[in-house]
Amino acid sequence: MSWFNLSDNINLLAIIGTVALVLITFVVVSIYFKDIKSGKASGESSKESWDGIKEYKNPLPLGWIVSFILVTLWGIWYMCAPAGSPFAYPLNAYSQIGEYNEEVAKYNSNFQNTWSSLDKEKLNEMGKRVYLVQCAICHGIDGKGIDGKAADLTVWGSENGAVEYVISGSKGLMYDAGPMLAMAGGTLESKEEAKQAVAYMFNHISTSGKSAKNAVGNGEEIWNNSCAACHGEDGEGMGGFGPNLTKYGTSEFVLDVLKRGKGGFIGDMPNFNDGRLADIQKRAVAAYVSSLSN
Ligand code: HEC
Ligand code: HEC
Repeated sequence: MSWFNLSDNINLLAIIGTVALVLITFVVVSIYFKDIKSGKASGESSKESWDGIKEYKNPLPLGWIVSFILVTLWGIWYMCAPAGSPFAYPLNAYSQIGEYNEEVAKYNSNFQNTWSSLDKEKLNEMGKRVYLVQCAICHGIDGKGIDGKAADLTVWGSENGAVEYVISGSKGLMYDAGPMLAMAGGTLESKEEAKQAVAYMFNHISTSGKSAKNAVGNGEEIWNNSCAACHGEDGEGMGGFGPNLTKYGTSEFVLDVLKRGKGGFIGDMPNFNDGRLADIQKRAVAAYVSSLSN
């Protein structure tokens, strides 16, 4: 934790206090300066005069000097003692926020360790629970997207789902290619062509293990002419220019969606980078979601 963390009330108070002290010092000193300059000041002053400013013959009280030096030293220590050293005090030592953060980190790593080697069935079970809490509010308990409010996950990731996206377009995953326009930006002449391109994709590009139900027909040619420009001939997305369609419908693709979020034609899906899900929970929910369509 750094000392300028303003969300920590103690730090905030300390900083406000510092600023207030500096301001008070300025005001008080300038009042005295004014008095001396205008000759209103009383008391014995020394003979020297700097542009009319004279000096009082008041020696500083010893106690004041000692506390001034001690407070200065204490301030340097307080601000600068390196984190983790035995002298670090107190900003780098105990705080309630620090304790809370440590507890959360410990809990998370315990959680991660306890569940790191789940078998497929248990992973799916965990995925379903995470799904019901985090995703069902938009996608519905059955994954069908609550009458079009969110993507129908029983169709998304399947061959028919991909055909739908190619016909009507998709945006919001924020790839360099921008959005994918309907009918691949007009390069497709019929819905039949969209189906053939996607069938080719499922048979030759996808690693999802699903094979095409539609006829491939001229799929390869259509793929090369209308899809490869953005997705690459091999479908891998040319290093982030477009999405990697070899993963389309797999849990890896879902993980990527969780990272990106999607402000699409249907609506907005938030990303899940805020730490509310542990990695294992993301993997679990991604596995569960990718199993919803076939
Ligand atoms: C102009 C570039 C471009 C072309 C051409 C293109 N795509 Fe895409 N495609 C993209 C981009 C970019 C995305 C991600 C869109 C988004 O942000 O939601 C995408 C997404 C997809 C998706 C996933 C949709 C989703 O959100 O789940 C599929 C499937 C797909 N494309 C298939 C195809 C096929 C098949 C073709 C050829 C008929 C094709 N694309 C042509 C750029 C393109
Ligand atoms: C606030 C509502 C909301 C929540 C919560 C939400 N989603 Fe979504 N999700 C959407 C919407 C809306 C879309 C459709 C975006 C579009 O294409 O316009 C979507 C799309 C998707 C897609 C398809 C992405 C694509 O490439 O087209 C996947 C996969 C997905 N969500 C998975 C999840 C998972 C897993 C969770 C829970 C961890 C989740 N969503 C939580 C609203 C939500």
